[in-house]
Amino acid sequence: MPDGVGEVEVWMPPLVTVPDVPGTLARMSSLRLVQTVTAGVEPYRPHMPAGATLCNARGVHDAGTAEWAVGAMVAVLREFPGFVDAQRRGEWTYHHTGVLADSTVLIVGYGSIGAALERRLAGFEVEVVRVARSARDGVHGMDELPVLLAEADVVVLLVPATPATAEMVDAAFLARMKDGAVLVNAARGGVVDTDALIAELKTGRLRAALDVTAPEPLPEGHPLWSAPGVLITPHIAGSTPASERRTLRLLRAQLERYLAGEPLINVITDSY
Ligand code: GLV
Repeated sequence: MPDGVGEVEVWMPPLVTVPDVPGTLARMSSLRLVQTVTAGVEPYRPHMPAGATLCNARGVHDAGTAEWAVGAMVAVLREFPGFVDAQRRGEWTYHHTGVLADSTVLIVGYGSIGAALERRLAGFEVEVVRVARSARDGVHGMDELPVLLAEADVVVLLVPATPATAEMVDAAFLARMKDGAVLVNAARGGVVDTDALIAELKTGRLRAALDVTAPEPLPEGHPLWSAPGVLITPHIAGSTPASERRTLRLLRAQLERYLAGEPLINVITDSY
């Protein structure tokens, strides 16, 4: 931490969370604004000093994350990981696979990333069902999840990490998912009960694509690595030049507002 940190008014924390967020925030005694470069703000929200505003990077990772989710569901349904293994062995393992066409894709946590995902799915001949914290026109409320889960072929998690979403994907949630369904997690690892997911994967009834895990980073030797039917990427959905370009645009726009005393954008007002 450089000298003079007590004079910092605006902190833009790095993409990968620094080790001691509460301690770091505590040393910034002049802090007015924390502008994250992530959509998720859970490392900061509980520790925000009075008088400072927290803003997230809503929109910045929409393209990258939505693109990852499409790629991940296609990869799992079309069995790309298994074909890559076979390629390494030099084996021609011809067989039919699943397909995204004609599926129902349930987006749990329908916000700006969900809308970006829906736009990208528009050409895939799927039905998209939207769920968010509160029901609105065209979007179901979380209370309808038990019924909707049973009808979905692909369930995409995009909810923020809040006390309400902690391990919301538990054994009961997974049990409601259709045989052969795919769970896609582009939210946070803590939204899923990892042990319950491993148990379900071991039965072969469900498959999963995970960009986030609990714990994260997933340690070497963790049973999730070798669970059947899981594709794991190391939290890279938003780590692309597309996000970098959008991050710079957001930071510039926000700093201009801050300096001009204009209302800030993406202000986090509640548990979001
Ligand atoms: C990335 O994980 C983000 O929260 O934007």
